[in-house]
Amino acid sequence: MPRRPLVVGNWKMELSYKATLETVTALKKLLKNIKVELDVVICPSFPMLAEVQVALGQSEKVALGAQNVHWEEKGAWTGEVSVTQIEPIVSWCIVGHSERRELTGETDQQVQAKANLLVQHGVTPIICIGETLAEYEADQTVSKITQQIEGLLASVTRMALTKLVIAYEPIWAISTNNPPAVPDPTNISQLILLIRKLVAERFDADAAERLRILYGGSVKPGNIQSFMAEPGIDGALIGSASTHPLDFVEIMKIVQQAHHERGN
Ligand code: PGA
Repeated sequence: MPRRPLVVGNWKMELSYKATLETVTALKKLLKNIKVELDVVICPSFPMLAEVQVALGQSEKVALGAQNVHWEEKGAWTGEVSVTQIEPIVSWCIVGHSERRELTGETDQQVQAKANLLVQHGVTPIICIGETLAEYEADQTVSKITQQIEGLLASVTRMALTKLVIAYEPIWAISTNNPPAVPDPTNISQLILLIRKLVAERFDADAAERLRILYGGSVKPGNIQSFMAEPGIDGALIGSASTHPLDFVEIMKIVQQAHHERGN
């Protein structure tokens, strides 16, 4: 079965309460007359999720995701949010974003625990992995990805693996880190191939073929085509451009078109 393309908008903490609702409304309007043949997810901040769900209404074109979740189901964790609090609202959840790993010290083990908990609750985890600038410059990209993926694969069942998505984001390529250039799409494609190879070794070729893997880092309408032209890239995790409805919809259209052209 061909993998369905996916675009995920990570709105981070970029939009106020009002701006979040305006952005959702604008997005809905732009999508009104468009045939959407891919999965589209937007991830606003926690306090906005319920209201965005209402704003989206019965829309089957856009699904809702959270930006994070705690690894425990409940407990004395002031300021944290549990999967049981978001599961009635979201069907997706980003975990292990590099900003959380770097700014709050989130570990691979915590990311794995979050992913497994989400799967148990029927929420699809979008698991972020990727190397820092220092690791990239020290030629450690392959070892970093291998270590992150092998750790993840050791912690999930084959069944859980079929219910999650990987987002490969070279941390240095994220727009707020002011990358000198976007990464070479051919290199990204090869690293994604490596991820599938590791999955095939741990489980089997079918599991590797079914896994959706996204690219993330400075994706814009002007560069997404070059990534989608490469094999194995199933869509994108988009930060900055996703808060601009016109850009986000343009990216969606290009991903959808590229998927058709691949003959899927
Ligand atoms: P960016 O963010 O598209 O602004 O680079 C991507 C991300 O942080 O997930």
